[in-house]
Amino acid sequence: MDKKEIETKIKELKHKLNAVILAHNYQIPDVQDIADFVGDSLGLSMKAMETDAEVIVFCGVDFMAESAKILNPDKIVVHPDKKAQCPMAAMVDVESLGWFKDKNPQAVVVAYVNTTADVKAVTDVCCTSSNAIKVIKSVKEKDVIFIPDTNLGLYVKRFIHDKNLILWPGICPTHHRISEEEILEIKKQHQNAEIIVHPECRPEVIDIADHVFSTQGMVNYVSKADSKEFIIGTEKELCYRLKKENLDKTFYSLKSAVCPNMKRITLEKVLKSMKSLEPKVELSETTIEKAKLPLQRMIDIGRGD
Ligand code: 13P
Ligand code: SF4
Repeated sequence: MDKKEIETKIKELKHKLNAVILAHNYQIPDVQDIADFVGDSLGLSMKAMETDAEVIVFCGVDFMAESAKILNPDKIVVHPDKKAQCPMAAMVDVESLGWFKDKNPQAVVVAYVNTTADVKAVTDVCCTSSNAIKVIKSVKEKDVIFIPDTNLGLYVKRFIHDKNLILWPGICPTHHRISEEEILEIKKQHQNAEIIVHPECRPEVIDIADHVFSTQGMVNYVSKADSKEFIIGTEKELCYRLKKENLDKTFYSLKSAVCPNMKRITLEKVLKSMKSLEPKVELSETTIEKAKLPLQRMIDIGRGD
């Protein structure tokens, strides 16, 4: 089947199943193009909550598809490739978090949404890169265990001085790889370009940025900015959406910024999963019940950028 035929079949099935296709900003262009909604982690969770579709086809990594299921326990959520997993989310598990909590019994646990459903179930409130500062400011406790992204935690520390943030030693391999050298090399060639980076980047990279945003924060910012050129310090596929929505502007992506897990979802896999309604996201009722609380608290707090 060629691409056009696959797209037609996906559209037919979408109608027949009453399905919605949600895709993260890092998905490959073909997948972004057939999605009903493309967004960041917070936007996707919000969309998953609002939808009246009976089937959610989730194009992103595991923790995002799990969040859609937690927020929609009665709906079918399919994740076209179960191997599309976020390595950072795998850097914290329930047992190790338990030891950390025992050592800091007075602390509240704020979980970046890049965590598994099992881990969310033993935390107090979730956040995304778009509202981490807002969420941490909102908690009453002085001591906050923040899991699992050290770089995001260090970024938040720049804005919050009245809390003791206890950071987990996790990182996103894709963002941690981004270097100041790579960015400054592009800046040398394009001196008018604004540097915009994701808060999962290392502190040295944050230091040279003009702005720090979640992926949707970047989309929102560049559409209103006067500048015509931007160096984008996040997974390079976001530039596909930025170019598509801002034809008069130029975006420079970084060669090193690739998340191979996000690339596992293809049009063929989307079609296959819609035909078979497999693989489904399956979680126990108890996990859903417990993990829903921190996710709901995060959604109630809303966007921060
Ligand atoms: P956003 O919520 O900013 O889209 O980030 C998700 C993510 O996985 C970044 O690596
Ligand atoms: Fe996980 Fe990093 Fe990929 Fe985002 S870019 S899904 S944090 S590995």
